[in-house]
Amino acid sequence: MKKVRLGVLASGRGSNLQAIIDNIEKGSLSAKIAVVISDQPSAYALERARQHTIAAAHVSARGFKGKREEYDSLLVKELQKWDVDIVCLAGFMRIITPTLISAFPNRILNIHPALLPAFPGLHVQKAALEHGVKFSGCTVHFVDEGMDTGPIIIQAVVPILDHDTEESLSARILQQEHTIYSRAIQLYAEGRLSVQGRRVTVSKGGKSGEEFLINP
Ligand code: GRF
Repeated sequence: MKKVRLGVLASGRGSNLQAIIDNIEKGSLSAKIAVVISDQPSAYALERARQHTIAAAHVSARGFKGKREEYDSLLVKELQKWDVDIVCLAGFMRIITPTLISAFPNRILNIHPALLPAFPGLHVQKAALEHGVKFSGCTVHFVDEGMDTGPIIIQAVVPILDHDTEESLSARILQQEHTIYSRAIQLYAEGRLSVQGRRVTVSKGGKSGEEFLINP
């Protein structure tokens, strides 16, 4: 069977990318990373790709200020050039536009370090701490045209401890991110996700007792 081809978009250190690479190499994720694309020439994510002989492309955003749609058409061209089936946003620090979304309908995934719909946007681990919530976590969702609003595929819960700082909480959430992103991609690869309105249902087929809300 043809493996699902991923296009990973990342702007920074790429630890989620690394977890996906590791899971593919271990055989627990049946997919192929066709290309890693970054808007930042020095993103460590590009280096990680090269270290694993994965195509790495820098698509510069220079000259595209106020022209997000035009930049996104470049991304679409690059993704199509590599025959990508799904796009995984992994710390991609740009707002994407309908140009990209309509080229990959319900085929763009994002990982967010909070339990959506609580705390969308940036600096969300700090926001969760300051709000005093007792649990936070992370969410893998399909991307729609809103900010972190698309249909939710998997979430993992992370309890907030009294002594937590933004750093300690972020680190525990990140650990869970590294697990659930690959799981969501695997479900997609197995053809088990269907989206009806806001709800994503997961058809049976995997191990029994599989859970899509993960409590560590
Ligand atoms: C992660 O916390 C992810 O949830 C958010 O951006 C961060 C990216 O981290 N969208 P990394 O580059 O994958 O290490």
